[in-house]
Amino acid sequence: MNRGYLDEFEEQDGYLNFASIGPAARSAREAPAGLLGEVALGDRSGVSIIGPAYEKARTTIAGALGVKEGFATSVPSTSAGIMQIAFGLIGAGGNVVVPAHEFPANRYPWLRAESVGGPEVRAVEIADRRVDPDALAVAIDADTRLVAVSLVDYMTGFKIDVDAIADAAGDALVLVDGIQGLGAVEARLGGADVFVSGGQKWLRAGFSAGVMAVSPRVFDRLAPTLTGWWSVEDGYAFEVPPPHPPLATADRFLEGSPNLLGAVAAAAALAVVDTGGIREIEVAVLERSGAVLDLVRSLDAEVIAPWRSDGERAGIVTFKIPGLPAVEAVDALAAAGFVVSERSGWIRVSPHATTPLHVIEGFGAALRDQVRNA
Ligand SMILES: Cc1ncc(COP(=O)(O)O)c(C=O)c1O
Repeated sequence: MNRGYLDEFEEQDGYLNFASIGPAARSAREAPAGLLGEVALGDRSGVSIIGPAYEKARTTIAGALGVKEGFATSVPSTSAGIMQIAFGLIGAGGNVVVPAHEFPANRYPWLRAESVGGPEVRAVEIADRRVDPDALAVAIDADTRLVAVSLVDYMTGFKIDVDAIADAAGDALVLVDGIQGLGAVEARLGGADVFVSGGQKWLRAGFSAGVMAVSPRVFDRLAPTLTGWWSVEDGYAFEVPPPHPPLATADRFLEGSPNLLGAVAAAAALAVVDTGGIREIEVAVLERSGAVLDLVRSLDAEVIAPWRSDGERAGIVTFKIPGLPAVEAVDALAAAGFVVSERSGWIRVSPHATTPLHVIEGFGAALRDQVRNA
């Protein structure tokens, strides 16, 4: 990785937990502070400072997600963006198809919307967590309004083929929760209708710094259920009583004032990704997760591995080793300087492009000690 990219980060080398939280890039930490500092001077209208700052950030977000101006917005979290879409489908009838094993952020919005008249939720059991068109096709029918999937599975690192799933979805919208990919692998709207991602993991944007991109047909299919005062035409024409028509841009999915600090942090983090080059980052992430995979397999670990090629996986390796309790192992590894996560009795390791390769060897040695002492 190039120096400009590497210089943005300062976490300790043994941090292998980017699927949980990605320590933020320096630029992403400085951008919101700089903006707050400007407003703090109080030498002109704050709106004249934050308006252009937000627009600039939104342009960066749109460019990074591969959509035209007007088709991207900021969100405080992945869930907030998905809520917007789920509640926009109230009144649309039909069903929403979602793998049953999705992270809860991509389950609750559909269930909550269903409970107040939204589409029926079809949670598809996929035993091997391989989310491919065949696995979803069993649940998709002419009444399917939307198919909701993760770009990268939080448990296994399995990476979907977005365009193939969009083909299988037929006329239904496709929503991609991109948080386990954005910043680590190529991640754009592509053939999907909604791409939504928090910024707190691989993107390394800090917190409350999510992004969302939508396709043109989203504007026709969704009701503006959660559209608020900031997200309508002539929002400042207070003499005209609400409701005003929703904006013709993706900012119609804001409930109120935009998520300004998050938007500038996300834009700064996306610029850092550009500095590194997403292809170079993806190769580095795969090399490191591949090294983790090789070493745990050499210890006879059981790995949840739904992928059939490297093109179907990303930065996550989740395994268990017979006789080694995961919670204790994660604690002992932390004491040895390696930060990883326990998830439902499994050990999840998630290095980034900034992880030095030799650290994976050190992690292997620490794990081997654990196995020996178990
Ligand atoms: C796949 C996935 N989606 C969403 C989230 C988080 O959602 P939110 O940004 O709403 O907290 C996580 C992890 O925290 C995740 O792994």
